Amino acid sequence: MLRAYRGQPVDHMPVWFMRQAGRSLSEYRAVRMHSNLFEISRSPQLAAEVTIAPVRRLGVDAAILFSDITVPLAAIGIDLEIKPGIGPVIAQPIREPADLRRLRPFEPEQDAPYVTEAVRLLVRELEVPLIGFAGGPFTLASYLIEGGPSRTHTRTRALMYGNPRLWRSLLDALAGIALASLRAQALAGASALQLFESWAGILDPQTYRTYVLPSTVPIFRGLADLDVPRVYFGVGTGELLADMGSAGADVVGVDWRVPLDQARMRLGRKVATQGNLDPAACLAPWEVVRERVTDVLRRAGASAHVFNLGHGVLPETDPEVLRRIVDLVHQHDVITPEGAAVDL
Ligand code: CP3
Repeated sequence: MLRAYRGQPVDHMPVWFMRQAGRSLSEYRAVRMHSNLFEISRSPQLAAEVTIAPVRRLGVDAAILFSDITVPLAAIGIDLEIKPGIGPVIAQPIREPADLRRLRPFEPEQDAPYVTEAVRLLVRELEVPLIGFAGGPFTLASYLIEGGPSRTHTRTRALMYGNPRLWRSLLDALAGIALASLRAQALAGASALQLFESWAGILDPQTYRTYVLPSTVPIFRGLADLDVPRVYFGVGTGELLADMGSAGADVVGVDWRVPLDQARMRLGRKVATQGNLDPAACLAPWEVVRERVTDVLRRAGASAHVFNLGHGVLPETDPEVLRRIVDLVHQHDVITPEGAAVDL
């Protein structure tokens, strides 16, 4: 997987699934009966157990640390709760300059030692790379401003347009938190890093370039010395791909709304890709799943690609389908032009 992330030739296409450790696995549900998301995240042993389960069960080529994008915010004292079936809910949203004082810098080893401890535990046990992650500044800002999940992100966009100075300070503070968190995970042993900018697809390209990209570029630049592949992911980002490709990541995630070969044209040739099966396709009969997976593989061609879903595994997904997808992807011949590096 690390070779594919770097655009180097591979003998088979690597595959992992966003949210692979979550609610579709009985192993997770068993742990979850006794502990909530934050309790699992704060226990290196439980977090490690839940992180490893899908690697064993599904045969994926990478593990993703069990945690959440809101964990660093909770660790610096933001009063937030994860409501089952809803998502992160924040008691006192951030809407005014004075509210920014609550966003103090994040010091991973002091504020959340359990995260790096879980990483250290995992890299000793795992035979596949461990992916560390953080929330992107737009996505975290949206939760903080809205006070919870939002379909329209209206308050977020209103604050962005209405108070660009406050917006920029907020995004820079969140970018600092993301960078500190990602660096700490890499220094503890994570071999790749993913920035989940899940909700940026609500913006048009010009707005994204003006209000999000300037706070995001320093995150990827701030990781450059670590020599760890950097992945940049968002949902509904078809119109943003060219700009996301210029943010400084090595890999850009592509959801299912843009066919992979078209996404690659929008991205240019500098980055590898990851995705792009519709998570809902996993709920269809196997023949349909196979057709959809094969279509992604065909469109990937000889380009540097890591197979994944376009967004997280849906809770109702049968893990057996995911396991069969892993086999199917691994059986596929990656045709690399003779003597040439992968088509990046
Ligand atoms: O991918 C993995 O398996 C690793 C663990 C992981 C979780 N959250 C665990 C989790 C990762 C990488 C995340 C990232 C995350 N968290 C994102 C970015 C990815 C994406 O889906 O776009 C976002 C937006 C969040 C915020 C968040 N946390 C949401 C929207 C939810 C779901 C709420 C719900 O119940 O529908 C959470 C909670 C959460 N994070 C769960 C898990 C397994 C469910 C918690 C539970 O069991 O109740």
